[in-house]
Amino acid sequence: MLTDQKIGRILNKRTEGVIKVSTFFVETHTHLDLIKKNTQEVVRDAAEKKVTKMVTIGIDLESSKIALEFASRFEGVYAAIGFHPHESKFLDEENLKELEELTRKDKVVAVGETGLDYYWKHSTLPCQMEVFKKQISLARKLNLPLIIHDREAHRDTLKILAEEAKGLKILLHCFSGDLNMAKVCIERGYYLGIGGVVTFNNAKKLRAIVKEVSLENLVLETDSPYLAPHPFRGKPNEPKYIPLIAEKIAEIKGISLEKVAKITSKTAQEFFGI
Ligand code: NI
Repeated sequence: MLTDQKIGRILNKRTEGVIKVSTFFVETHTHLDLIKKNTQEVVRDAAEKKVTKMVTIGIDLESSKIALEFASRFEGVYAAIGFHPHESKFLDEENLKELEELTRKDKVVAVGETGLDYYWKHSTLPCQMEVFKKQISLARKLNLPLIIHDREAHRDTLKILAEEAKGLKILLHCFSGDLNMAKVCIERGYYLGIGGVVTFNNAKKLRAIVKEVSLENLVLETDSPYLAPHPFRGKPNEPKYIPLIAEKIAEIKGISLEKVAKITSKTAQEFFGI
């Protein structure tokens, strides 16, 4: 006979859908302030898919402040504080000081996202480089990891990191280099953020990298609200889609979803100290 409790359990299993893991996922890169939906719902929907820890990323002073506010409001949410390369031109001495103040607060787990973007070039290249270096110094001063944005700027990103960021923990978010660059990064002890792009039809190069490198060097991210994974490509992205990325990685590497969740969560937790 089916008791109410049993029926409840069966229904629960059904609504879980494909996500059958005993552990949890860590989302290493979301922009909660840019997702056009009630943040409490976003966090709750993610938790329902076992995405129980996430790092929300600042792109300028204002969004860094909001990241911090979300981190103080929600248990599993942590903040990264920084200036995106697009916004480099707006970083002056005064807001650099303010940024440093923010970075000393509770639940701030990284500086970023910072780096170089030679695709859009919303700020000039010398300005981007200068602001990147300033944020590397900030990370060193506060002994925090760095979250790096590198778009079509691989050579300069690697050069600046080699010169300025020795000994710091580095995560290349939304990794877009080739296999050779991935190997250089891993040799240097950097971590690679893998997001929805890995599920795209035209992402053969990234899938080959994921197959080749060790799972221990990878962490999961959505970069939401951008870059939603298949079958939601082109639609608004959210942290709740992390398991779709993990499933793709499991498929590419021929391992279980459970293992992807376990190993990437361990890596991300150690990286951010969360
Ligand atoms: Ni981002």
